[in-house]
Amino acid sequence: MASFTERYHELTKYNPNTIDKLGPVHWDHQPPAFKAISSKVKIDLLSRLQAVMDHLEEGAPVTESPEAGLENIAKLLFFTLGLTARLGDQGGGDYFLRAAPSAGGLYPTEMYVAARNQSGLPDGLYHYHSLKSALIPVWQGSFWGDLNHYFLGHPAVDASGLILIFTGLYGRSAWRYKERAYRRILLDTGHAVGNLLEVCRYSGLDHSLMGGFLDAGLEELLFLSPKEEFPLLGVAIGPRGTLPSFSGQYPGETPAEAIRHLAAAGSTGRELGDGEGEIPAGSRDAGIRDPGIRDSMQVQQNACERIRSEKNLRPPVHAPCGGPDFAMPADFNPLKTILSRRSCRKFSGAAISQGQMREMLAYAFRPSDASWCLASGQLEFHIVVLDVKGLEPGVYRLRTDTLELEPKRPGDFRSETNFMCLGQDLANECAFALVHTSDIARLAEAYGDRGYRYACMDAGQIGERINLWAVYAGLGSSGIGGYYDDQANELLDIPLSHGILYITLVGVPEQE
Ligand SMILES: Cc1cc2nc3c(=O)[nH]c(=O)nc-3n(C[C@H](O)[C@H](O)[C@H](O)COP(=O)(O)O)c2cc1C
Repeated sequence: MASFTERYHELTKYNPNTIDKLGPVHWDHQPPAFKAISSKVKIDLLSRLQAVMDHLEEGAPVTESPEAGLENIAKLLFFTLGLTARLGDQGGGDYFLRAAPSAGGLYPTEMYVAARNQSGLPDGLYHYHSLKSALIPVWQGSFWGDLNHYFLGHPAVDASGLILIFTGLYGRSAWRYKERAYRRILLDTGHAVGNLLEVCRYSGLDHSLMGGFLDAGLEELLFLSPKEEFPLLGVAIGPRGTLPSFSGQYPGETPAEAIRHLAAAGSTGRELGDGEGEIPAGSRDAGIRDPGIRDSMQVQQNACERIRSEKNLRPPVHAPCGGPDFAMPADFNPLKTILSRRSCRKFSGAAISQGQMREMLAYAFRPSDASWCLASGQLEFHIVVLDVKGLEPGVYRLRTDTLELEPKRPGDFRSETNFMCLGQDLANECAFALVHTSDIARLAEAYGDRGYRYACMDAGQIGERINLWAVYAGLGSSGIGGYYDDQANELLDIPLSHGILYITLVGVPEQE
């Protein structure tokens, strides 16, 4: 039986013949960009952040101390997903941009903090309210035993006093992107995780990515609204040398099992193509007509990815990933870079050098120890070179372990790249496009349906590191979540079994 992931990915492809059948976007239906605050208690982070900003300004070295508990937490949260720019009144009040980019600027990713023994912060579970720059208590007291259970006894839970939990609020993205929103939510979250890990490394903190957890347990602990907000990832954080070394990620249930569960729960698994993995006739070419399927498809994809019980858990998967070692320039400060990061809105069309491209990739794919990967060994990358000095224009396969480029198709593919990216000008004027792909059936075989979550978040992380390096190097970049899937396969000359997960464009920004 084909995995639900293959079906979800297939059914959410953009296709030139059906893109106009997706239906209108109801701009007046946009959900609020920030959560309502239900608690009277708020723990202010702004005053704690001031000290960090002063240090940044003075160029002082970062020193972490256990006494700086709340200050550290304020820094980690702000530089992961805090508000970094205000665009002024956009009709519905002030509109803010955040530390991490987001498809359409919709910001469906939320963050929670589980803390124990952190100076200045009572033990508890908190929601990070980025608009108020505050922690809102969700639960106070002792719950580490529950966390340990929900994270399946991951050794980092016991070793850490600080766990950040990323969730996705689907309505915030789905009102605009419909069933394809789930893909973008995962990519957005991956971008935020990319920031977090950079700040951890810079601050001398260990991190441990915990993608395997009992979903229902965490949902209950965080009081998440059912079918609306879902936990996506836990990240344990601790002083350097305190967390256990990387131990891989748990696969979810095997795909067939997940579909069986879904059908047993009375869901619409059957309508999505019962039994033998067939996509229902016409659905791909005609768009998805059944509103029941349309509205719930990403919730179903998420449901298929759930880990329901410790029983039948397969051992974690651990495969090599990451690029060669990279010597970080002494003047690279991720905090400063994150503060000034913005997606490029217009490229000049000028070329970049091969050296600039290589440095950027070396930064993005480091380190080789797989500590940042969730779906290690499952992502593949191609580069469409439009204008890189010293490189023939054309399609190349990127070997991420050595950063070698294997030529695949020589030629000027500017117009094909532009078409692939739904005719967006950025794709006409960039220097190169990095295309993130994965063999979806292989992914589901290795990680169950949960692999989709892992792979898309990994792609987002790579995208974020490209963004950060672009800022540092005076270049520009933008994520592209809107593209014609099968046309991308055609351009790259790769089989349709390889799903296109994301595209990152890089070039020289046009001076304003
Ligand atoms: C997953 C993802 C997909 C995106 N897709 C597009 C896109 O297709 N076209 C585009 O111009 N920008 C795209 N962006 C960039 C967003 O529009 C941008 O992040 C958002 O407007 C916020 O601005 P900022 O990144 O400068 O903070 C994407 C960003 C992400 C993270």
